[in-house]
Order: sequence, then structure tokens, then C-alpha cells
Amino acid sequence: MALVTGAGSGIGRAIAGRFVADGAEVLSVDLVLPVDAPGTPHQADLSSREGNRAAVQAALDAFGRLDIVVANAGFQHVSPIADFDEDRWDGLLSILLTSPFLLAKYGWPALTAAPGGGRFIAIASAHALAASPYKAGYVSAKHGVLGLVKTLALEGAAVGITATAVCPGYVRTPLVERQIADQARVHGLSEERVLEEVILAPHAVKRLIEPAEVAEVVAFLAGPGGRSFTGVPVTMDQGWTAR
Ligand SMILES: NC(=O)c1ccc[n+]([C@@H]2O[C@H](COP(=O)([O-])OP(=O)(O)OC[C@H]3O[C@@H](n4cnc5c(N)ncnc54)[C@H](O)[C@@H]3O)[C@@H](O)[C@H]2O)c1
Repeated sequence: MALVTGAGSGIGRAIAGRFVADGAEVLSVDLVLPVDAPGTPHQADLSSREGNRAAVQAALDAFGRLDIVVANAGFQHVSPIADFDEDRWDGLLSILLTSPFLLAKYGWPALTAAPGGGRFIAIASAHALAASPYKAGYVSAKHGVLGLVKTLALEGAAVGITATAVCPGYVRTPLVERQIADQARVHGLSEERVLEEVILAPHAVKRLIEPAEVAEVVAFLAGPGGRSFTGVPVTMDQGWTAR
């Protein structure tokens, strides 16, 4: 029984679809869910405390228990620091850091009671481990969520809960497609050159990761093979942080 946030698009949609294909019940949470989204749809704004509380309650109401929480919802904002919009900063911290905290807090009793041991999985980023210019809010929040996961791992050890932060490099999703357009504007380059010279520049392997590859790693972490992974970044970054 799983709750996946940001399940209406990109990585979250691939994770929810993978869980459903593997036979799990999934509450798919997002601001907007397409009609063909996998799992049981639950509309919520996760930038509010009420939205996070209601999402956990909806999973418990639907399934009677909650074994896996995947905190994935997010967005990006690209801006030089001097112009960085303060409301966008608050929004990034709220969805990328505070929502995972609230989901863990509200879901903790259910994860503690999960028969095979609860799993808390944050979709962080290579930006939890390394910075890029113009991404102050995103990089700060992603470093923060890795700290949250480490803390949850220590608190969860005694009650069978593991906590991990999956740290992908660039994945082919609408979020990256929007960044290509934003970076083209900031750098004054064509979108083709941005993909080659800016987006994939930190990757040793010059290939976008597919959402299904992230879902595969999450399925492993959520399954029996993942039980020894806790308090760590699970890095899949095409060699980015090897430098
Ligand atoms: N795409 C990448 O290259 C990449 C790389 C590393 C990490 N990530 C992380 O993976 C996660 C998913 O990213 P994606 O690329 O699939 O993006 P995406 O834009 O395709 O999907 C993100 C989803 O989050 C939802 N969301 C945003 N704000 C919300 C809110 N307030 N309440 C509820 N839902 C909200 C959106 O509606 C959207 O459906 C994010 O946390 C992102 O930082 C992405």
C-alpha cells in the first residue's frame, strides 16, 4: 500500500505505474491528475499542511494501512540569486522539503505498523549532493531533504522503517523540458545547445535518464532487496558526482 506524490506527471507517474503493475495499491497524489493516471487519484496541494495530512488520511481510508511513502512532487525555478523571487523560494522549500517532512510525520504511525517494515523514499536529486548556479532554492531544498532522510533513518531504525533519497541526474520529464526553455533564456542559447552544453554538461554519460529507470530503482528500494538501504542517497547520476 503506497502513497506517491507528484503522480500526475514524469517520475511520479512512472513510479505509481510501476507499483500498480507490480500489484500494489497506490494513492496517486497531485495538484491535477490526468484521467488515465495509474492508481487511486487524490487531488491535493502539498504546499499546505492540510494537503499533506489529507493525503495520508486518504491512503489510510482507501487501503486501511500505508507501507510506502514516495515523496516526489516538485518543481524547479531558475534565476540568478539577486533576482531570485522570494515567493518562489518559499514555494520550493514548501514542496521539496516541508511536504516530505509532513508526509513522514503524519505517516509515521502507519509506517511503523507496516507488516514488512515501512519505507520512506524521497525523490531528491544529484542536486542533493552538488550545486548548480541559478538554482538556489532547489539545491538548498534537495540538500535539506537528504538531511531529513538521514534523520528519519536513525529514528526509524528501531521500528523497522527505512528512509532513502534517490538522487537522479537529469530525467526526461516535463520538468526538464521546462528547464531547457528557462536555461535557454538565462544563457541566451538555443534549446539544442542548452541540452548538450548546459543540461547534460555535468553528466559523464551524455544521456537523459528515463522515468522508468527511476521507477525501477524505487521498486527495488520498496521491495525486500532494499531493506539494507537506509539513511543514504541512492545516486543514479550518470557519473555527475564522480568528478
Ligand atoms: N526530471 C529530472 O531531471 C529530475 C532529476 C532529479 C530529481 N527530480 C525530482 O523528481 C521529482 C519529480 O520531477 P519530474 O521531473 O517528474 O517533474 P514533473 O514536473 O513532470 O512532475 C512533478 C509533479 O509534481 C506536482 N506538484 C508540483 N507542485 C505540487 C503541489 N504543490 N502539490 C501537489 N503536487 C505538486 C506537479 O503537478 C507534477 O505533476 C521532483 O522532486 C524533482 O525535483 C527530477
